[in-house]
Amino acid sequence: MVKPMRRRRVAVLISGRGSNMAALIEAARAPDYPAEIAVVISNRADAAGLAAAQAAGIATSVVDHSRFGNDREAFERRVQEMLDAHGSELVCLAGFMRLLTPWFVRRWEGRLINIHPSLLPAFTGLHTHARALEAGVKIHGASVHFVTADLDRGPIIAQAAVPVLDADTADTLAARVLAAEHRIYPLALKLVAEERVRVMNGRCFIDGAAAEGLLTVPAQMI
Ligand code: GRF
Repeated sequence: MVKPMRRRRVAVLISGRGSNMAALIEAARAPDYPAEIAVVISNRADAAGLAAAQAAGIATSVVDHSRFGNDREAFERRVQEMLDAHGSELVCLAGFMRLLTPWFVRRWEGRLINIHPSLLPAFTGLHTHARALEAGVKIHGASVHFVTADLDRGPIIAQAAVPVLDADTADTLAARVLAAEHRIYPLALKLVAEERVRVMNGRCFIDGAAAEGLLTVPAQMI
């Protein structure tokens, strides 16, 4: 008899729209998906993603960062309490717009992942689509990576590439990248939840990556 798989309990941290969060919730609806979304935590009460999570029957929590002034760690300790209260084993940042302290990052090392809208290490930081257009790159995309103290620099788990078209604006390019994000984030979380990702010297090695066959999305999404 096949041993029933234990689904990893995942917390998703958001600050806004929450479309990546929604993609993770959708993926986790499949009974054979190795993770379940235990809680969605937002640092903003007006994040649109909160309503979407509630509509999907997911527990939500708001930890308003502004109540903690400049004390980032105090804010994170409260977030940590919420994570503990929901038995979180993995944390996915999905448009979470707060810088994390080394205290939090170290505590979740290897269990904290983020999605960034560029092919890292290119275009770390904000406004990635406008900067990609300005730089004239022909290929752009998204990356899912482990979070380390060095912002947007942690080991890369999965990437998706999309073409940059002549007529693109930052908005049309962002929409093409976002569609790719929604494909790779659930895939990357699945690989992490299945404990198939090993990090060595800052690189991720995926057990059975060849069999998975979907580690990069080819540039065919025109
Ligand atoms: C995404 O582009 C993500 O890569 C970046 O912030 C955006 C969040 O969008 N970190 P959403 O809230 O998931 O819709």
